[in-house]
Amino acid sequence: MRTGNKVIDETKQGEALLIKSSEETEKKVYIESYGCQMNFSDSEIVASVLSKKGYSTTDKAEEADLVLLNTCSIRDKAEQTVRKRISNLKPLKKSNPDMHIGILGCMAERLKEDLLEEEKMVDLVVGPDAYRNLPELIDDLDDGRKAVNVILSKEETYDDIQPVRLGSNGVSAFVTIMRGCDNMCAFCVVPFTRGRERSRDPKSILKEVKGLAHQGYKEVTLLGQNVDSYLWYGGGPKKDFDKLSDEERAESMDFAQLLETTAQSVPGMRIRFSTSHPKDMHDDVLHAIAKYDNICNYIHLPIQSGSNRILKLMNRGHTRDWYLDRIKRIREIIPDCGISQDIISSFCTETDQDHEDTLDLMRQVQYDFGYMFKYSERPNTLAERKFSDDVPEEIKTKRLKDIIDLQQEHSLIRNQRYIGGTHRILVEGTSKRSDEHLFGRTTQNTVVVFPKETYKAGQFVDVVVEKCTSATLLGKAVALADGP
Ligand code: SAH
Ligand code: SF4
Ligand code: F3S
Repeated sequence: MRTGNKVIDETKQGEALLIKSSEETEKKVYIESYGCQMNFSDSEIVASVLSKKGYSTTDKAEEADLVLLNTCSIRDKAEQTVRKRISNLKPLKKSNPDMHIGILGCMAERLKEDLLEEEKMVDLVVGPDAYRNLPELIDDLDDGRKAVNVILSKEETYDDIQPVRLGSNGVSAFVTIMRGCDNMCAFCVVPFTRGRERSRDPKSILKEVKGLAHQGYKEVTLLGQNVDSYLWYGGGPKKDFDKLSDEERAESMDFAQLLETTAQSVPGMRIRFSTSHPKDMHDDVLHAIAKYDNICNYIHLPIQSGSNRILKLMNRGHTRDWYLDRIKRIREIIPDCGISQDIISSFCTETDQDHEDTLDLMRQVQYDFGYMFKYSERPNTLAERKFSDDVPEEIKTKRLKDIIDLQQEHSLIRNQRYIGGTHRILVEGTSKRSDEHLFGRTTQNTVVVFPKETYKAGQFVDVVVEKCTSATLLGKAVALADGP
């Protein structure tokens, strides 16, 4: 803890002991995050763990004693980006040989000790469940040894660690509610890099969310690889509700209950969540969304493929009809809900007909927006072991383009429906394109840009929408609103 320019060590049973002036002890860490929001959220845990070791964060790599890259392995490209970034750090390491470079996150977990061999400048490799161990690992570095901890845990949720918000706009924050994934989709590396699924204690989630409300935050996104299978029963690896003992059931809380409890405890805040899994998303979650004004009417519901044959090969655990039924129920229960997708084009053995099935499903749903990728084979996944990555690159490129073009058409149609209406948005900050404009999002998660006037980030504002592109709504503020 820092007080003035002194560092106080409070480790000795609450007895504050003055050690050295901060100029002598305070070190600086620079953290760069890649990949999904869970990684960004983990970096805030890392910053918190390191602050206890006297590290403050800096946004300039050149003044850091420790440079950490929190990495992603989801597609080969994600790993290549990190490799390039490591080599870009060469001049910095040359000018400051005492600087340490650490690799955290999914790539650390996937490659383990091999990373030290492959990337000679790296001296620290730490997997997603080992961040509490960072202070000891850094001691090893200071003693001149390289350090690795990639042990995965069945229990770790970092629930007692207060994240240090990094790069925050002071308006919206992310809170991790579960870790790991037990689904084993055939294409996916996450179960290998993040380990077994486990849910975080709702008490600690609510404490963190209320703390954010107290600090003036207006929006929280609850994060997990599959939030619909959130189930607290006292701690430990995922269990099905049917398998819980009477005591565990008495203490249990599922995702719909967590959403409701959160909505009630911070009525002035917007609540979002990501990611939903179609096989586990049941109506009780939809009813919770419909019931509370402060739970946003927006669901990110990846489909990956519109072909039943491919969904089966992908081991997604649902059919196309099941998915379309989920969409129907969303639209019945939450009529104005925003819906977005993830699609992987050109998975192993995908035919023109499978691809057509995906386009056809997209036409049936008309998503508001989406995240679309070419299949990238990942080492050790079921698909890598059992199937061949056999769709030629030119066809992959063409199919992906078909999907992106269709999504753009749909996004434009979906956005046009807002024109002429008044929509409540939460202002997040100044528009990237113009200092005279602010931007925010509707409850459906669509971005709105409007002239600033006297409005500010963190306010709820009613905006009349006048124009749109496929990505953005443009409008004019009509009134300050008093809540989500
Ligand atoms: N847990 C989430 C997805 C997390 S990964 C879910 O189940 O929906 C985010 C997205 O990356 C996935 O939805 C998928 O579309 C994409 N993705 C995952 N593995 C991939 C791979 N090997 N190649 C291409 N895209 C992939
Ligand atoms: Fe990967 Fe499937 Fe788990 Fe999502 S649900 S993280 S795609 S294994
Ligand atoms: Fe990437 Fe790991 Fe997230 S692989 S998408 S950073 S869970």
